[in-house]
Amino acid sequence: MMKLKIDSAASGKASLEVLFFVKKSVQFSPVLSGKASAEAEKVLEKIESEIYGDLEVVEIENRKLIFVNAAKERGLSSLDHLRTAAYRLAKYTRKRHIECVNLFLADASAEQVKSVFHGLAYAGYSFDRYKSKPKKAFAVTFEITAMERVKEFKKIAAEVETEQASITLAKDLINTPGSDLPPAGMALEAGKVAKECNLKIKIRDRKALEKEGFNGLVTVGKGSKNEPRLVTLEYRPAKAVKGIHLGIVGKGITFDTGGLCLKPQNGMSEMISDMSGSAATLAAIRAIALLKLPVQVTAVLALAENAIGAGAVLPGDIFKAKNGKTVMVDNTDAEGRLILTDGLAEAASYKVTHLIDLATLTGAMVRALGYAVTGFFSNDEKLAEAVIESGKASCEKFWQMPLEEEYADGLKTPFADMKNIGNEAGAISAALFLKEFVPENVKWSHWDIAGTAFVTKEWKYTAFGATGIGVQTLIELVRHLGNSHGK
Ligand code: BES
Ligand code: ZN
Ligand code: ZN
Repeated sequence: MMKLKIDSAASGKASLEVLFFVKKSVQFSPVLSGKASAEAEKVLEKIESEIYGDLEVVEIENRKLIFVNAAKERGLSSLDHLRTAAYRLAKYTRKRHIECVNLFLADASAEQVKSVFHGLAYAGYSFDRYKSKPKKAFAVTFEITAMERVKEFKKIAAEVETEQASITLAKDLINTPGSDLPPAGMALEAGKVAKECNLKIKIRDRKALEKEGFNGLVTVGKGSKNEPRLVTLEYRPAKAVKGIHLGIVGKGITFDTGGLCLKPQNGMSEMISDMSGSAATLAAIRAIALLKLPVQVTAVLALAENAIGAGAVLPGDIFKAKNGKTVMVDNTDAEGRLILTDGLAEAASYKVTHLIDLATLTGAMVRALGYAVTGFFSNDEKLAEAVIESGKASCEKFWQMPLEEEYADGLKTPFADMKNIGNEAGAISAALFLKEFVPENVKWSHWDIAGTAFVTKEWKYTAFGATGIGVQTLIELVRHLGNSHGK
């Protein structure tokens, strides 16, 4: 928990004052005079010598100052380092039960202020719903000195609060165990968001899916008593830019055992996160609606549990996808792309102009780029550029991968139009498979978040568990589309 108090001047109640710095220059902090500034120099030298730097509390001229290293190190952008520094600061103050801390941010840019607020908020996240003794809450008040920029800072704080609430929603859903959040549970959560944000929602259950030929979901969901769902949410703002309609499709495998092509036992529990794409999709449309961004958005959650059961799909089985193509299930663990055939078909039926899908799709992507960089694909270079730029503004790194047609032959099979695994280049083969279900004229980008959705050690401002990847970049991308006036 943290409280933000934004004011033009310091109240004098704070027992600590914070000085952020980037390299040797003290950033947006009250100027230290003469002797004090020389003392500060020494502290800076000391912290700067430690990579990833830390905090140092020093008393100078009766002021208790805390220096926080926000230097650009180890590949993080300076905004991201600032977030991390703010996160460490919040953790530090809470651990020591410091009630009130003053941050002088009046000289900071709007982006820097936003980063600091995000970093402080990240420190407030914990997932202790299942602990018998949850940690005692302790709220630190961060007093922000804004001078004449109070109004501007309050607007930024409100925006960050909306974004963070959505990120928290995504993380909570992802961290919840598979048995406690089956497809029907996720659909209920989507219902709550629809109500909160006044969105139109449509939920299809197994019967409806069978009737309408959404056979990817039906096929994958057959092995579980927790039946599949397809959820569609519509955001239609009063003022929307013309000619743009964004579809977002999320993979929502609420647990992935691999099916009959069973996964190895080591690390299988991490597959509670195999619905991260759908969680990010839901979280993003929530924030987009609450921020009243001027772009039409349709969000689709493809939800199923990939389990073993008497009715489970057999390797070699063939089904007809919603767009008429037939698919042979060569590997039941490559289930994400099967349910996405339905998600993509559903989004396409809304005549979207732009389409993003997010999926924890391949182990190959985890091996290629790890936890810090999301690999993505696109059939449109302008959209690809916008994804990278929106990622940068959100401190989420994206790297474009090729939709290499030379590997497309790997999806051929004698008895059906295609099979669900290729021969080589696992992440690319998966993307090529998805491409078969995207209409030609739609600008599409596929984000393989398998490596970046869930971390097993503390990283930047995320503890063990869900990172919330994708939520901010999606919001930022919609801001970008909203500014591009239909182009
Ligand atoms: N959900 C997994 C991908 C995954 C792996 C996500 C590790 C997060 C961490 C996906 O359904 C899967 O099992 N993919 C297989 C595909 C293969 C059988 C072609 C894989 O990547 O091993
Ligand atoms: Zn799988
Ligand atoms: Zn999966």
